[in-house]
Amino acid sequence: MTDTHITLVGAGRMGSALAGGWLKAGHDGNIDIVDPSPAEIVQTWVDSKRVRLNPDPKASDVLVVAVKPQVFGALADEIASRVGPDTRVLSIMAGVTLETLEARLGTPNVARAMPNTPGLVGKGVTILCTKPGTADNAISELKALLEPLGQVEGPIGEDLLPAATAVSGCGPAYGFLLAEVMAAAGVAHGLDLDLSMRLARKTVEGAGALMEGADEDAATLRKNVTSPNGVTQAALEVLMSPEAMPSVFEKAIGAAIARDLALSKETE
Ligand SMILES: NC(=O)c1ccc[n+]([C@@H]2O[C@H](COP(=O)([O-])OP(=O)(O)OC[C@H]3O[C@@H](n4cnc5c(N)ncnc54)[C@H](OP(=O)(O)O)[C@@H]3O)[C@@H](O)[C@H]2O)c1
Repeated sequence: MTDTHITLVGAGRMGSALAGGWLKAGHDGNIDIVDPSPAEIVQTWVDSKRVRLNPDPKASDVLVVAVKPQVFGALADEIASRVGPDTRVLSIMAGVTLETLEARLGTPNVARAMPNTPGLVGKGVTILCTKPGTADNAISELKALLEPLGQVEGPIGEDLLPAATAVSGCGPAYGFLLAEVMAAAGVAHGLDLDLSMRLARKTVEGAGALMEGADEDAATLRKNVTSPNGVTQAALEVLMSPEAMPSVFEKAIGAAIARDLALSKETE
């Protein structure tokens, strides 16, 4: 695996988190990075000859596309010049379909993945999406490439990627929103804003840490902190009533899926 020659196009937040993990895994000297204005960390890798920056086009074993979807159209020909018949392409761009990748990069060896921002601290979850019939060894190789960002799930078919994106790709924002609305509710009931924000934020962080270390599923963890007829139960009866969080979340995920599908059309 460490002999694999990787080209990374776009060394922004996600791209550099991936490349940092590949270097930790021993890929020194086997990584080409294409980025017109590399971040400081990338420049330190270039200076210490751990990666090559903007080399002349050459086909690599794996090419990872981590630029914003909006710039992909203009860049596709340049990226295609780095793709050979045996190159496996992995895109983490939101909304750019396998069909578009295949057509613009001139290879059937394409896969997609949707990471999320906790990946920047190695605590993300990334869903891999491959074409039907992708070989097991190719899937293992793609999963290993994504592991620097945290857990890797899948592969799933592309038809389910918008739903997975709406849950885990967008999900960190829902967690942050939870802290925000909990804090605002505390303020509405008399707490000082800063104190309420600290209480809400630490509570969301702590619940995440508890869940990370637990074998139980989320529903069991919730039940474990809910005494019958207690204070938590009173709040949950409001939050879990059918017209509250269950239907609001179903609608929110539906809206995210619709937007994802619309964005895919725009990047065709
Ligand atoms: N962040 C997330 O939570 C998340 C989640 C899921 C998927 N994604 C996907 O991951 C991809 C990267 O996201 P990100 O947050 O890492 O974005 P980012 O920090 O903006 O990284 C994109 C990188 O590509 C570079 N770039 C721009 N033009 C280029 C060119 N012509 N050739 C090579 N590189 C070029 C950018 O350079 P400049 O800064 O100089 O423009 C930047 O370093 C996006 O497609 C996004 O949809 C992100």
